[in-house]
Amino acid sequence: MNAVSFRDCKAWESEGLMLSTSSNEACKLYDAILSQYVTWRNDETLGGIEGCITAVKAADPDFVMGHVISTGLELVGTGSSVLRDERLASAVRKTVELANCQEELTSRERNHVKAMELFSKGALHKACEVWEGILSDHPTDMLALKFAHDGFFYLGEQIQMRDSVARVLPHWKPQMPLYSYLKGMYSFGLLETHFYDEAEKMAKEGLALTPQDGWSVHAVAHVHEMKAEVDKGLKFMASTEKDWIVSDMLACHNYWHWALYHIEKGNYEAALDIFDEQVYLRCVKSRAMLDTVDACSLLYRLELEGVSVKDRYREVLQVTQPHTEDHTLLFNDLHFLMVSLGSKESATTQRLLESLQELAKDPAENHQFQIAERVGLPMCQALLEYDQGNYKQAVELLKPIRGRFVEIGGSDAQRDVFNQLLIHAAMKSGDKEHQRFARCMLTERDAVRPHSLLTDRLIQRAHSLHV
Ligand SMILES: [Fe+2]
Repeated sequence: MNAVSFRDCKAWESEGLMLSTSSNEACKLYDAILSQYVTWRNDETLGGIEGCITAVKAADPDFVMGHVISTGLELVGTGSSVLRDERLASAVRKTVELANCQEELTSRERNHVKAMELFSKGALHKACEVWEGILSDHPTDMLALKFAHDGFFYLGEQIQMRDSVARVLPHWKPQMPLYSYLKGMYSFGLLETHFYDEAEKMAKEGLALTPQDGWSVHAVAHVHEMKAEVDKGLKFMASTEKDWIVSDMLACHNYWHWALYHIEKGNYEAALDIFDEQVYLRCVKSRAMLDTVDACSLLYRLELEGVSVKDRYREVLQVTQPHTEDHTLLFNDLHFLMVSLGSKESATTQRLLESLQELAKDPAENHQFQIAERVGLPMCQALLEYDQGNYKQAVELLKPIRGRFVEIGGSDAQRDVFNQLLIHAAMKSGDKEHQRFARCMLTERDAVRPHSLLTDRLIQRAHSLHV
């Protein structure tokens, strides 16, 4: 990243994205933060995102969009919630107050403040609506686009996630800053709506322009995952590692995808090596939620495959335990639960479930709490039942809502762990109907994702269990 080329007040204004500050320094730092967010890369020569956030506040303490981007980034990181973190709650309040007393603020900036406040309350649909409103007037507002992308991702709104980018693409010109990254974002929406060939083409176009675009690499990794093209995936990750490793905020997740190919092939040792050398170390260092859920999920998947990972669960518990009562996302909760169950930390498991049940009683505007009763809690309970060997109960909890797993957000690849869980539970259930259901699910799985070695192993297992 080139600090000289970051946009000053005039440059932003000439793009129709005026920023209400007279400080060129603040404008450039806003651009630096935005660029690092889009590229998933803390640029240490700039002081990383954190350094830039400190600097932008010093350059102009009243710069509203500086507050919007810094508080917004913390919120979309989902590592803390305004319910439990007074510092974050007060940052949201301060941004709103600052905006209220600045008459000269543009309506675009005011809407950014509104969306951030809605997001902080868990009103994700409404926040996304506001970001989309900004984009309909200002299709080149990358911050609105990225926040909406993340918002739709957390909502499991796959079509919206795709079309949000499709709508703005014609308004961008190749010479605009960060243009190439739109291709990776669009690719991700395409693959999550199962346009795999189009997604791969789009991501490769992005990579031709910017080989270091970790999100485009990630999109290709997903395509290979969803098509069970394991060898292609392994080759692609190895040959591009030197490019995407610079995206420090995404590298862990890309290693996670790499490990999934090994699990698919049954090479558990290779998957464990990636866990030990990359995923775990990165998760402990960053404490980022994406890295953390990857660590949880990798262990759970290996355990489903019959690999013992008990000691590793206890190590990851150190990272997840402080978040037991955060409840920012049901998706995160379910992953923390994998680890508390795996570590036999029943008090933590209990605390997670009870505090979630409590919040689900009075969800107010919070979308996660609104869907907790019908999706999140049954899924949590199913994990618990499975852990206790109550396979029949696990199936009874998951089967009626399996079409709704998508509502907890995340990608198809990430949520596949719950499909695998249901298959295992149904295979192990003593109920003959459940055993037939397991075979049906495996047939479905084989049809949409042919030549999967993992599916083949499960089919063999089902045969040997039920003969
Ligand atoms: Fe992914």
